[in-house]
Amino acid sequence: MQPLIDRHGRVATDLRVSLTDRCNLRCTYCMPAEGLDWMPGEEQLSDTELVRLIGIAVSRLGVTEIRFTGGEPLLRRGLVDIIAQVRALDSSVEMSITSNALGLARTAPALAAAGLDRVNVSLDSVRPDTFRTITRRDRLDDVVAGLAAADAAGLGPVKVNAVLMRGVNDDQAPELLQWCLERGYQLRFIEQMPLDAQHGWDRNAMVTADEILASLEQAFDLSPAVEPRGSAPAELFRVDGGPGTVGVIASVTRPFCGDCDRVRLTADGQVRDCLFARTESDLRGPLRAGASDDELAERWQTAMLGKAPGHGIDDPTFLQPDRPMSAIGG
Ligand code: GTP
Ligand code: 5AD
Ligand code: SF4
Repeated sequence: MQPLIDRHGRVATDLRVSLTDRCNLRCTYCMPAEGLDWMPGEEQLSDTELVRLIGIAVSRLGVTEIRFTGGEPLLRRGLVDIIAQVRALDSSVEMSITSNALGLARTAPALAAAGLDRVNVSLDSVRPDTFRTITRRDRLDDVVAGLAAADAAGLGPVKVNAVLMRGVNDDQAPELLQWCLERGYQLRFIEQMPLDAQHGWDRNAMVTADEILASLEQAFDLSPAVEPRGSAPAELFRVDGGPGTVGVIASVTRPFCGDCDRVRLTADGQVRDCLFARTESDLRGPLRAGASDDELAERWQTAMLGKAPGHGIDDPTFLQPDRPMSAIGG
């Protein structure tokens, strides 16, 4: 095994694979109403190419967790088959998806049967009007059904991701938490990051982890969770001394880059060593030119050497990456 190690000694064991840049919602903090110029089909890795690269990561590079993302990963036609193929390659690798849950009510049983372990679902409000304002689609019922189906199919513990926006849903943190606690979902609030396609992120408008926690503490008693956090982005809190927890992912105000164990593969076969990387390393070209597994593994290792110590959002010279969140996968 040749681990994916960077110059700062961090080892990437968690591979996040973007399966498509397309999405069927249009969240205002992510992309414009008209959508984006989607990636042409021939640029995308085929299912076979994708499974080969994942196989190399798992069998030679020490990757133990695979997260499928998008855009919206459920829009990838071959998703169930990709999961089944990876599961056939390795029985122990942990596989999960981060999804908006549209269509999950229908596909959850097949995903579980194929070998998916769990799901994280994005849900920023449980009020139909706020949900519509944020996502520009009237699909709250589908998301709620998708969450329930995932839970019923054993794809838990189900986690819910919420981004709060000032003046839009920042008054709804306690009700969202209450809703998740009642259903046994683990809610995490995420600080908004400068990764939107419109480049409209504003540090002063961002709702901070401190503000989120203060708002929750108006309604709940929070105490730090006892489990060690490890490299997980979410800092967890126990709610009202009960079994339920809530998390904050404070990427901006409390960065966790020093413990980063992640590497990303885009739908067009580029390795990104960080969410905020400004350069990528091409695996698709060599793969299509006939490179061996050894060569691809070596390129992947080399790709990690430029990984920056941190995201640099606070640096005066910070520049947002060219690829938006929807094409990186979060
Ligand atoms: P779990 O293992 O299920 O806890 O997943 P996760 O929280 O790491 O992943 P998820 O896809 O649910 O992402 C939740 C939020 O964390 C999203 O906003 C991601 O963009 C963000 N996130 C995930 N990985 C990283 C990372 O490496 N760096 C930063 N800064 N944010 C990340
Ligand atoms: N900052 C933080 N989180 C974001 N997400 C999408 N865009 C951003 C952003 N700019 C969240 C989604 C989803 C996860 C993959 O990332 O809500 O839950
Ligand atoms: Fe890792 Fe980059 Fe995320 Fe920091 S911002 S935790 S270095 S991927």
